Amino acid sequence: LDSIKQSLPLNGKKVMVTAGPTYEAIDPVRFIGNHSSGKMGFALADELAKLGADVTLIAGPTAQKSNAYVKRIDVVSAEEMLNACTSIFSETDITVMCAAVADYRPKIIASQKIKKQESALVLELEKTVDILATLGKNKRESQILVGFALETNDEENYAKGKLEKKNLDLVVLNSLNDQGAGFKADTNKITIFNKALERTLFELKSKTEVAKDICTAILKIIK
Ligand code: CTP
Ligand code: CA
Repeated sequence: LDSIKQSLPLNGKKVMVTAGPTYEAIDPVRFIGNHSSGKMGFALADELAKLGADVTLIAGPTAQKSNAYVKRIDVVSAEEMLNACTSIFSETDITVMCAAVADYRPKIIASQKIKKQESALVLELEKTVDILATLGKNKRESQILVGFALETNDEENYAKGKLEKKNLDLVVLNSLNDQGAGFKADTNKITIFNKALERTLFELKSKTEVAKDICTAILKIIK
């Protein structure tokens, strides 16, 4: 069994995957969230583990079940996800940032349930830290960093912009214009750009198959 494991392409590699949404509290009973199901990130964690990697999955609130061979850390907010990611990043060889991290959070979390009033409610939101960009800044030459880009328009340009700005090795573009792609679906249609801005288009597939394609792209650039 040991010799089988040793022959796997990611044997001995430490991999971090993030998945799911983040929830940003408004008060003790309410939050701002998004529709990410976590399916894509959980499928990725599985496939990377099957290739022999030592996988840590940092998961936002999701109904997904992880496999026993994946080490799972559950988080709720963007700040918790940032802390979990930065605490292990320096030891990871490959990081795949699949989570749909909130861009904004309530500036003040009310300590008691906010009561409804006659007037409209105005919530002030502040920016969260961009986790992926933070990791990109701290990345060593030997580390591989993969990000996602979720776009509705001018998709390829935005995706390439994220690749460069966040210092990524690969960016996986998810276009919400593609039928069957996106948050809740069991399928996804992706385009991958590498550092040379070379583009690879993929067909609509199950998220498990998409995860395999992303793993193949990672294996191609392994350092
Ligand atoms: N991301 C992150 N931390 C954030 C926001 C996003 O790490 N606070 C990561 C996501 O996990 C994803 C990548 O950045 O891998 C791109 O996320 P996306 O929402 O597509 O892009 P943003 O840079 O947030 O820009 P915008 O939402 O304005 O398109
Ligand atoms: Ca965003």
